[in-house]
Amino acid sequence: MVKRFKNLVVGLDIGSTKVACCLGTHEEGMTEILGYGFAPCFGLRRGIVVDIEETVSAISAALEDAERMSGFLIDNAFVGVGGAHITSENSKGVVAVSKADGEISEEDVKRAVEAARTVSLPPNREILHVVPKTFIIDGQEGIKDPIGMSGVRLEVEAHVIGVATGAIKNLTKCVYQSGITINELCFGPLALSKLLLSRKQKELGVILIDFGAGTTSMAVFEEGDLIHSAVLPIGSAHITNDVAIGLRTSLDVAEKLKKEHGYCDPSQVAEKESLDLSKIDKNEEGEVSKKYIAEIIEARISELFQLIKEELRKIDRDGMLPAGAVITGAGSKLHGLVDVVKEILKLPAQIGLPAIEFSGMVDKVDDPVYAQAVGLVLWGIEEGKSGYPKISVSSIGSLPKKIKEFFKQYLP
Ligand SMILES: Nc1ncnc2c1ncn2[C@@H]1O[C@H](COP(=O)(O)OP(=O)(O)OP(=O)(O)O)[C@@H](O)[C@H]1O
Ligand SMILES: [Mg+2]
Repeated sequence: MVKRFKNLVVGLDIGSTKVACCLGTHEEGMTEILGYGFAPCFGLRRGIVVDIEETVSAISAALEDAERMSGFLIDNAFVGVGGAHITSENSKGVVAVSKADGEISEEDVKRAVEAARTVSLPPNREILHVVPKTFIIDGQEGIKDPIGMSGVRLEVEAHVIGVATGAIKNLTKCVYQSGITINELCFGPLALSKLLLSRKQKELGVILIDFGAGTTSMAVFEEGDLIHSAVLPIGSAHITNDVAIGLRTSLDVAEKLKKEHGYCDPSQVAEKESLDLSKIDKNEEGEVSKKYIAEIIEARISELFQLIKEELRKIDRDGMLPAGAVITGAGSKLHGLVDVVKEILKLPAQIGLPAIEFSGMVDKVDDPVYAQAVGLVLWGIEEGKSGYPKISVSSIGSLPKKIKEFFKQYLP
């Protein structure tokens, strides 16, 4: 018998290979984990829904799994957004302070953030987040919290994350068809940052990398603010494909070879070490060199992390982030990854572990497979009720009435 739970917060991560969900609640400064759900998913490619039916059935299976495990009924969730359609840019918003005495109110800040949304967008794109970085009052820069300060002109510098309207509509459609409503959509790395990054790392400067199957997403923080984000259309599934092509094996065998015998750095693998393919799959035959597998993996890893380095170069932070790289996503389980990342990015690097403590079912909170779902629970608890609009008007046109009502509270 499933039961309703008033303060239930659900995080739903719809990835290229799986749907993961996490149930939590928050009391007296502590987040309690109440359950998890998981289901393989074949309905997305590079983080974008390509098969609605497959995706809906994977979401439903993951939700049922979580309901069975926790005993609670799920009727809404904070949903992660990923995919190669995501873009980011910086924007500015300027407003005149409304009160006659010049004291800046929450309303002024909201209007300034709203003004930063007016970046010119092509017709098929919309804004997912406007994340304020810093405020400027009458030309004075570097203000973090302007509410209560005095001035005439309030400016905000914001990081704007944009999405393809079609991709978002298809994603939201899948969630609704699985029978639940959406509290809010959240760019995956923002949710992950709640779980994996400490305040200190975000202050010093850090890049969070979600190495998934079809995509690799990243978010760069400095002085506590999000300064850059990007999604690359390359993930760990590309390594599997490369191994399958290079060794002429099936994808299943290539996946096993990658997970169980893969290594990122061929120089660390002995020349003579080899594997009997028939022991991995009875339909395969012949010997393969472990060093050769490592060479295939290294080529793709080096391509991917050079692209990440390029993203850092774009914002003049190449080799410049003192808190280094924090890597998550199940792709991060690849043996030897951390050392190779240190070498390529010329930064400290580590696999992401929770930066906060939990109570309840904590067994999976440090598994990268569930990281985004757990991060979404934290996002829901911390940011879910913040007044900044998270989705633009154009995307609510096709949503069911109940959801429209929800989003309308945040719209001007
Ligand atoms: N032990 C392991 N070693 C190496 N790779 C692994 C391991 N376990 C899982 N992977 C790889 O991680 C990938 C899945 O990662 P993840 O679950 O983070 O992706 P996703 O969320 O489904 O996809 P995306 O975020 O790109 O939409 C698969 O390509 C899988 O092969
Ligand atoms: Mg993912």
